[in-house]
Amino acid sequence: MTGQEASSLVMDKPPPARFWRMPGVAGWVRTFAVKWIEAGAPPPSSGSEGSVRWINCVISGSDRDHAMAQSFAVAEAADGLLIWVGTDADERVAHDIFVASQDARSLNVPHLAICHTNAPLAGFARSLALERQFRSVRIIERTTRTPHVAISRELAADVGDFCEVRLSGDGRRYVPQFALVSPPLQNGGLGRQDVVLVTGGTKGIGAECALRLALRTGAALAFVGRSAGTDVAVAATLGRASALGIRCSYAVADVTDEGAMLLAASHANREFGPITALLHAAGSNETKLFQDISIEEA
Ligand SMILES: NC(=O)c1ccc[n+]([C@@H]2O[C@H](COP(=O)([O-])OP(=O)(O)OC[C@H]3O[C@@H](n4cnc5c(N)ncnc54)[C@H](OP(=O)(O)O)[C@@H]3O)[C@@H](O)[C@H]2O)c1
Repeated sequence: MTGQEASSLVMDKPPPARFWRMPGVAGWVRTFAVKWIEAGAPPPSSGSEGSVRWINCVISGSDRDHAMAQSFAVAEAADGLLIWVGTDADERVAHDIFVASQDARSLNVPHLAICHTNAPLAGFARSLALERQFRSVRIIERTTRTPHVAISRELAADVGDFCEVRLSGDGRRYVPQFALVSPPLQNGGLGRQDVVLVTGGTKGIGAECALRLALRTGAALAFVGRSAGTDVAVAATLGRASALGIRCSYAVADVTDEGAMLLAASHANREFGPITALLHAAGSNETKLFQDISIEEA
């Protein structure tokens, strides 16, 4: 959703006074939830080129997945790649999906479809569409019982540049809609007795969230990051915490290193007692266009 779209949704109704806002955050930044709305059948392809002709690529699929995906494919002259994600797929398939999409892009395949069962792939597909990497991108969520004809209809439809759809077991069709929500202000049950393990909390958005959480709840913060404690940003956040009277500690650990994380947890335990909550903010925020991401980075 663009800022303008969001603003048209919310500007007529200012946030309630009890709304907790961070300084500097624009007024249209609000909390939205995705609601799935039942929708009618997709428009059949009307262009002179006719429907997209698909070839398929099955990621982590059973024999049934292969057979289903194959049933939508043509033998030749394809102009779309259908990435069929098997029902047993887990996070390890993300790399294969990335590589298949990048191969399609470098071969100038105009259309991309990703068909999956409850995998968190919509953001990836939406980014590809926003970056205009393909003429059309469709992301189709199915169940194991979704009728073949319902998926076939989606693949044959004229979807414009992007379509996200969820197909139920009885073939009904749902599309996502952003709805404004006002979650009640709560501390998540946290209080002074709590110890929050904060990964990635000494820099960026994690630092801002962690400091405010501790101020509101009185909980102790056990920060974890890869940088040395003498790192300028780390020292600055620890200094801010101390100036605010927040109880905190810092341990050097990489979240992908189980041994180092166990050591960090026992360090926090010694300082404040057992960890009772996790604020996970460790991540990489280096934005890049799809075609600029290397296979190694993916
Ligand atoms: N900025 C935003 O407005 C925003 C909004 C929504 C979501 N996010 C997401 O939040 C995450 C952080 O974004 P940011 O802008 O705050 O980035 P950032 O300023 O670069 O902070 C990243 C934090 O994660 C830590 N970190 C990274 N890899 C780690 C690892 N392997 N083990 C332990 N700690 C690690 C870093 O500490 P070390 O370098 O010391 O390890 C640092 O504290 C990203 O995934 C981003 O997409 C950001």
